[in-house]
Amino acid sequence: MNISQLQKLIERYFSAGPAAVGDPSAMDVFLEFRGALEAGEIRSASPDPAAAVGWRVNVWVKQGILLGFRLGALSDMSGGGFSFVDKDTYPVRRFGAGDGVRVVPGGSSVRSGAYVARGVVCMPPMYINVGAWVDEGTMVDSHALVGSCAQIGKRVHLSAAAQIGGVLEPVNASPVIIEDDVLVGGNCGVYEGTIVRTGAVLAAGTILTRGTPVFDVVRGEVLRAADDTSLIIPSHAVVVPGARSVNPSKGHPDSQAWGLSLYAPAIVKYRDEKTNLSTTLEDLLR
Ligand SMILES: CC(C)(COP(=O)(O)OP(=O)(O)OC[C@H]1O[C@@H](n2cnc3c(N)ncnc32)[C@H](O)[C@@H]1OP(=O)(O)O)[C@@H](O)C(=O)NCCC(=O)NCCS
Repeated sequence: MNISQLQKLIERYFSAGPAAVGDPSAMDVFLEFRGALEAGEIRSASPDPAAAVGWRVNVWVKQGILLGFRLGALSDMSGGGFSFVDKDTYPVRRFGAGDGVRVVPGGSSVRSGAYVARGVVCMPPMYINVGAWVDEGTMVDSHALVGSCAQIGKRVHLSAAAQIGGVLEPVNASPVIIEDDVLVGGNCGVYEGTIVRTGAVLAAGTILTRGTPVFDVVRGEVLRAADDTSLIIPSHAVVVPGARSVNPSKGHPDSQAWGLSLYAPAIVKYRDEKTNLSTTLEDLLR
């Protein structure tokens, strides 16, 4: 089946609602769809120069993922002394040496329907959810999460405990996108469809959501998400976690005496030789 036939069938079974449950041909189509996701033939968002933000959400792919949850029945997935119960449409993915992906033992899990390219390193414990795309040479460090449908580019470093949020619903919502050569520092959180452009650096502890204004000290701009656009971190920006004073004209007069600050990520520079040195990673580990 080619991709456009697959798309039509997924759309048909998705709109069939509960009527698709128990239909063996719907399950066949879903399993073919899941195989295409894992092979990297389809993805929930794709680069598209014609789109305003450079990425297009593939609504039908997200519908296919949701279809899998609808078709799945709870099933015993226990093994190795542990007890697990989940939808039988999304069991744990299995890898062999020939896949070229290193999954270091110890509590990591990659869910079916995730694409993981050759050369990716997964340090335990980490989790990659359904619909995620993790491209070549990327490191997913310990305690990192790649949420559902998140798109992670080539040679990205997701440092220890970095959380990349999942955006499965609504189906037309843009997932979180981390483009090529980005460094996401330890304990960062990137949520709600935020796009981090090529080569950017998020210093340890940076949190980005749709509601987070980012202060670009270099260019004198405040970056925000708009109704129809995600928060976008520009290419090669170096973002660090900062603070700003609370606007005194807002809130109760008594609160002014508290001297509060709000979290305020700031772009302090654009990547230079020093940043490259600070972010150089040990090739031998990869
Ligand atoms: C961002 C980072 C890469 C440094 O980049 P850099 O280009 O070398 O930055 P510089 O040292 O030139 O600093 C530029 C400015 O940002 C400030 N800054 C740098 N890192 C900062 C941080 N993490 N938090 C707050 N401010 C920071 C510096 O003080 C400097 O400001 P100043 O000139 O007013 O003093 C580094 O701080 C970082 O967070 N690395 C990731 C560490 C990590 O998570 N490792 C995980 C491994 S698992």
